[in-house]
Amino acid sequence: MIKLRNPIMLALDVDTDEHALRILDQVQDSVGAIKIGPRLNLRYGATFIEKVKAFAPVFVDNKHFDITSTVLAAIQASFDAGASFATVHALNGEDTLHKLSLLEQHLNQTRPFKVLAVTILTSWSQVNFAENFKQWSVGEHVVSMAKLAEQAGLTGLVCSGHELALIQKHNLFKVVPGIRTEEDLKENTQDQKRVMTPKQAMNDGASGLVIGRSIINSKNPRDTVKRILESIYS
Ligand code: C5P
Repeated sequence: MIKLRNPIMLALDVDTDEHALRILDQVQDSVGAIKIGPRLNLRYGATFIEKVKAFAPVFVDNKHFDITSTVLAAIQASFDAGASFATVHALNGEDTLHKLSLLEQHLNQTRPFKVLAVTILTSWSQVNFAENFKQWSVGEHVVSMAKLAEQAGLTGLVCSGHELALIQKHNLFKVVPGIRTEEDLKENTQDQKRVMTPKQAMNDGASGLVIGRSIINSKNPRDTVKRILESIYS
């Protein structure tokens, strides 16, 4: 079991290590995990993950979708680099997800590590869904992928806050992106479509909240983290 100090998984979506470390310096002991995507992974790789690990557990978010052997090797590489979480698409299918669950079990003999299955991206909605997905609702797709991940032996997924109620009975570690504070909701949700406040998502059963721009683009990231945590626990 990976123990987080709180549910905030900070999306460190910047382009340079210098910028990333400046943000981390401010929020260092106040976030639960730090999510690093391709923007930093491709530039700085394992050396950077090693550095970030000192602040909080690292969530490597490359959302792999490929043939089984490539996905397994990528997840192994994420673990070797020091990640505690790594993402793959649930659409990789049951066989790949099952092999990933066996790899996860094996890796957990060394230290806690979780593979998260991404269901439907929070930047998608029923309206901008790919045409061949539209015969089902977003919710139906997410429920079906949650079942698939669980049957395959995985224990973590990524979905929007909107589907939490639908997968309530699934005992999974539920990571929720598309989080916006009350103030953000009044303005612009950028490319995110299925959005929810931190408090609502936690009340509906989220285990972790992916939050990026609301924190990293704020004047004082440390205060913003504090305010978000207060809003959750108030
Ligand atoms: O809070 P903000 O909108 O800035 O968060 C953006 C982050 O959420 C990006 O790092 C993106 O990769 C991540 N995300 C995710 N899973 C999704 C949708 C977005 O991890 N389904």
